[in-house]
Amino acid sequence: MNVNGKHYRTIWLKQDDDSVVQIIDQRHLPHEFVIEDLETIEDVAAAIKDMHVRGAGLIGATAGYGMYIASLRAPKDDLTAFSAFMEESGKILKATRPTAVNLAWAVDRQHDAMAAGEMIKEKVSIAKKTAIDIANEDAESCRMIGEHGLSLIEKISQEKGDEPVNILTHCNAGWLAFVDHGSATAPIYAAHDKEINVHVWVDETRPRNQGARITAWELGQHGVPHTVIPDNVGGHLMQHGMVDIMITGTDRTTFTGDVGNKIGTYLKALAAKDNGVPFYVALPSSSFDWKIRDGVKEIPIEQRDATEVKYIKGLYNGKVIPVLLTPIDSPAANFAFDVTPSRLVTGLITERGICPANEKGVLSLFPEKKV
Ligand code: MRU
Repeated sequence: MNVNGKHYRTIWLKQDDDSVVQIIDQRHLPHEFVIEDLETIEDVAAAIKDMHVRGAGLIGATAGYGMYIASLRAPKDDLTAFSAFMEESGKILKATRPTAVNLAWAVDRQHDAMAAGEMIKEKVSIAKKTAIDIANEDAESCRMIGEHGLSLIEKISQEKGDEPVNILTHCNAGWLAFVDHGSATAPIYAAHDKEINVHVWVDETRPRNQGARITAWELGQHGVPHTVIPDNVGGHLMQHGMVDIMITGTDRTTFTGDVGNKIGTYLKALAAKDNGVPFYVALPSSSFDWKIRDGVKEIPIEQRDATEVKYIKGLYNGKVIPVLLTPIDSPAANFAFDVTPSRLVTGLITERGICPANEKGVLSLFPEKKV
């Protein structure tokens, strides 16, 4: 996607030094565009844990590159020491954030791929290739999600004539949450590029405001008409026919169709059901958890620091500063994700097509996952 007219991915190898990984440090958006170098496994772990990078696909891609960086820094004179270092690095990365399944998926994919190499040198070059493959596949899957999801928006647009198609989204499942294109936003970009009249309601997404800060910024960069709304407005808009379709992303979806996503998604899905608004979830297959069946019981929910709830960050006199919202002594709880049961989900948009949010539907697109 473009930033001020220049194409960027969210993560890449540094041009003149492929032992360094570069990322867009999202903590500074939308007010500053900062590129950060990651050179050690500690840098990578901190970038994921402290949310310099975030979003399911990008967390996975960063973990993939993290394993490559670990392979470069690992001891090279002894295979056992090399393997122990890689094992430990995988554990460090997996412990950074619990909910997005792409993280463990990418680390395990690296371990499996590197196991095929015999010499250390070969393992390092496999790790590099695998990291690049994970990133390229993520971008391509999101592009395909855009192609498939476009048909939903196109159909609504044909029914509405000149009126804009109003899409509600939550959090940021845009290109900044992946390597490129985004999941929930990919169909929106595809529709906009096809000159379909779209307008996006952007949930601000308290407490970190990924919608207000990041989704709004990237839609703006691409010229997509949008309006930021407080999180509690969606129900009202739906009651008044001002939302045609909801599309969100997901951090982990069970193969039975339960969707773990940013806190607040469940309430929007309930409102969508009550108002007959189609509620779609867009995801690359790397965000499916093929092992668990009951999302509410089994998807781990990250709890983040209470300061994110108690303070809000914003631009003041040209500087980004935190401001205290609550009484200083009031405790705050910060559940970062919730689970929307499959019965509230109209369909899943994947790189292989759109399916109902249930086991039969998911396995019809991914038959190789049948046990
Ligand atoms: O806590 P974050 O910002 O990493 O949350 C993840 C998300 O961006 C959302 O939950 C998103 O809708 C799904 S991830 C593409």
